[in-house]
Amino acid sequence: MDTSAPHPVSRTIVLVGLMGAGKSCIGQRLAVRLGLPFTDADDEIEQAAGCSIPDIFELYGETAFRDGEKRVIARLIDGPVQVLATGGGAFMNAETRALIARRATSVWLRADLDLLLSRTARRGGRPLLGRNDRRATLERLMAKRHPVYAEAEIMVDSANESPDVTVERVLAALVERGTAAADA
Ligand code: S3P
Repeated sequence: MDTSAPHPVSRTIVLVGLMGAGKSCIGQRLAVRLGLPFTDADDEIEQAAGCSIPDIFELYGETAFRDGEKRVIARLIDGPVQVLATGGGAFMNAETRALIARRATSVWLRADLDLLLSRTARRGGRPLLGRNDRRATLERLMAKRHPVYAEAEIMVDSANESPDVTVERVLAALVERGTAAADA
C-alpha cells in the first residue's frame, strides 16, 4: 500500500486489551498497513511525566497514573487520525470508553492466559505484575476486565502466531465493519 496516499480510515483506531495482548506490536504494523501514524499511549504518558511508568506508580501512585492516562488518551483522540495502543487499564475508565465510542473505533485484542503469561515474561516495567504471582494477577485482571473489553466495537483473537496474521484479522474486521477500505 502506498503509505503517502490518503488513507481510507476516518476515525482513530484504539487497541485495547490486557498486558501482553500485543497492542503495541500489532498497532505498529496496523498503522503501516493503513498509512496512519502510530502512538503508544504509555510512551506518551512517560514523556508527559518525564519518568517511567514504574516510577510514576512508585512516586505518585496508581490513581495519579490513571488520571494522567485519561488526559493523555483524550488529547490523542482529539488529534489526527491514528492507530493508538492503550495501556491495559485505560479502557476500564468509563469516561475514556465513552470518548472512544464517540470519536474512535475500538478493537479488543483478546489473548488467552498462557500467551499473556509468556509474553509478559519477556518484558518487565509493568508495576501491576511486578511483585505478585503473575498467573494469579492476570487471572484476576482477566475476570475483571474482559467483560469491559467486550464493550469494544471489534474483537480480534491475538493468538500465538505471526503478528502479520493477527494484523490481517484486524484489517478484515475493520473492512467488515466498513471502518477501512478493502485495499488497506
Ligand atoms: C497497565 C498496563 C500497562 C501500563 C501500566 C498499567 C494495566 O500497559 O499502562 O503498567 O493496568 O493493565 P500495557 O498493557 O501496554 O502493558
